[in-house]
Amino acid sequence: MCGIIGYVGGREATPLLIAGLKRMEYRGYDSAGLAVLADGALTTRRAAGKIARLEGTVAATPLAGQCGVGHTRWATHGPPTERNAHPHLSKDGTVAVVHNGIIENANTLRSLLQGKGYEFRSDTDTEVVAHLVQELFNGSLEEAVRAALHEIEGTYGVAIISSRDPGKIVAARKGSPLLIGIGENEHFVASDASAILAHTRQVVYLDDGDVAVVEAGGYRVIDTNAAPLTRKVDRIDWELGAIERGGFAHFMLKEIFEQPQTVENAMRGRLILEDGTSKLGGLNLTHDQLMAIDNIIITACGTSWHSGLIGKLMLEELCRIPVAVEYASEFRYRNPIVTERTLCIVLSQSGETADTLAAMREAKRRGARTLGLVNVVGSTIAREDDGGIYLHAGPEIGVASTKAFTSQVVALALFALKLARKRGLSVTRGMEIAQALHALPAQIREVLDRAEQMEHIAEEFKRAPNFLYLGRGVNFPVALEGALKLKEISYIHAEGYPAAEMKHGPIALIDEMMPVVFVAPHDAVFDKVVSNIQEVKARKGTVIAITSRDEPALKGLVDYEFRIPETVDLLMPVLASIPLQLLAYYIAVKRGSNVDQPRNLAKSVTVE
Ligand code: M6R
Repeated sequence: MCGIIGYVGGREATPLLIAGLKRMEYRGYDSAGLAVLADGALTTRRAAGKIARLEGTVAATPLAGQCGVGHTRWATHGPPTERNAHPHLSKDGTVAVVHNGIIENANTLRSLLQGKGYEFRSDTDTEVVAHLVQELFNGSLEEAVRAALHEIEGTYGVAIISSRDPGKIVAARKGSPLLIGIGENEHFVASDASAILAHTRQVVYLDDGDVAVVEAGGYRVIDTNAAPLTRKVDRIDWELGAIERGGFAHFMLKEIFEQPQTVENAMRGRLILEDGTSKLGGLNLTHDQLMAIDNIIITACGTSWHSGLIGKLMLEELCRIPVAVEYASEFRYRNPIVTERTLCIVLSQSGETADTLAAMREAKRRGARTLGLVNVVGSTIAREDDGGIYLHAGPEIGVASTKAFTSQVVALALFALKLARKRGLSVTRGMEIAQALHALPAQIREVLDRAEQMEHIAEEFKRAPNFLYLGRGVNFPVALEGALKLKEISYIHAEGYPAAEMKHGPIALIDEMMPVVFVAPHDAVFDKVVSNIQEVKARKGTVIAITSRDEPALKGLVDYEFRIPETVDLLMPVLASIPLQLLAYYIAVKRGSNVDQPRNLAKSVTVE
């Protein structure tokens, strides 16, 4: 959500901090700031709006120094103004804090500190940390931070510097991701590997409860009681090009066009065509444990929740195990039925979504085994689950999730295939699905080759105030996902419904002004969908149909048609979702939206 970067070493910190902030701008971006330490004093620059505004401020009034911290903010406490932007300074200006997360007892601490004469200059919860560290300072920043953490309730990733203990960054993590980047006589702290990838690939992911003392020449990790901890050094295995636009107008378009490759990556080394099954190394589930599963709960948010709905249909159809799909934000606060024979599948692109993480922890607490289908390597969900399947989609920068969605569906299919084959699915049916999976990358290329056609359709509808998306069976979640894509980047109101459900209410909305997108490939429920299209046409609705054949039944019923290749019914969502991603993208561009950074949204929602 928000982004943290810190640098300590022999180079000027400011350009490194600004470059790191720009790499993270996609995470949260309503204000930004940095603080740099030089000649025994801290200097800060902050600005509301995009990093470019902060860059302008820094250019006008430069700041020098070789140790500093920076932050991009997505407002939680207080509006996105300069005074609320991070870093926040302590009363005496000797401590600078950047913080992701929420300090839950901020009001109590604020009153306490006000009683001691501290004046607050912002509406944020973070400012209490700066004053608290000043209050507890007794010669060592690390000790003051540790003492402050004992007073704080809530979640945090923090990076703190002080002019009274210069040349070091003290960072701490609880519920908000943070890593150390290891360079030569220089070190970084960041909430996101993309911020430091230009300088190093060697990283240490901090765990909850870790405190890191980071200096130019080295780093130490301790717990909040100062006991030393050992953390392994990981290597980031993607290239800088993965976080650059590479000639595409937007990250979202680049990521849509990456899907032949990302879907292939999700399957690489995992699909066993000749046995109609898959090999998934990270499941950490024995044969007996797989056989003992008697129900599955899938939990996720947003787009990941939509892929979960598709996963349910796959798992129930192939494995004959009951599956419930739960919004993580609901699941965590109710009293769900979970047993030791429950498998909880957790879907998350970022691996950091606060509600999803909390739902996973709740499922674990109640005795379920957890399986994380996550894209970001080393993310919290990936480290806390009992087993996992990485999506290998590479960094997804566009706020609207695209390639992670199709990779999730593929990963779910691989898991369903493996489980189903163990539990009695015939080798013939297994091979049919495995072959269909294998064919997907080339089929996605075919869909993308027709992108221009979708651009023309988008031109026709760019001014529509509302949209309805309808589908049945496995394509109902595709309709939901299509509607979500459109609304989040174009700000057009859009609803997804099961096609037959339309006549129980939404049909009242249909007139000649209402575009209705039907996901209508030639599948088991095609004839039923045709009846629903007729109902829309009878009310003068305009129909845009995603189809897979030249269907006589559709003649005269469809105003705009986009053709996708055919595959087995269960995998149709992979192909059918791509034209809807393109439709949303082109409409948003034509309406002048900021496609990669739509208003009010952040890439990963690490607060409740
Ligand atoms: O990182 P996650 O998959 O856990 O994120 C879940 C949702 O926040 C995310 O899918 C969101 O709905 C996207 N903006 C959708 O495009």
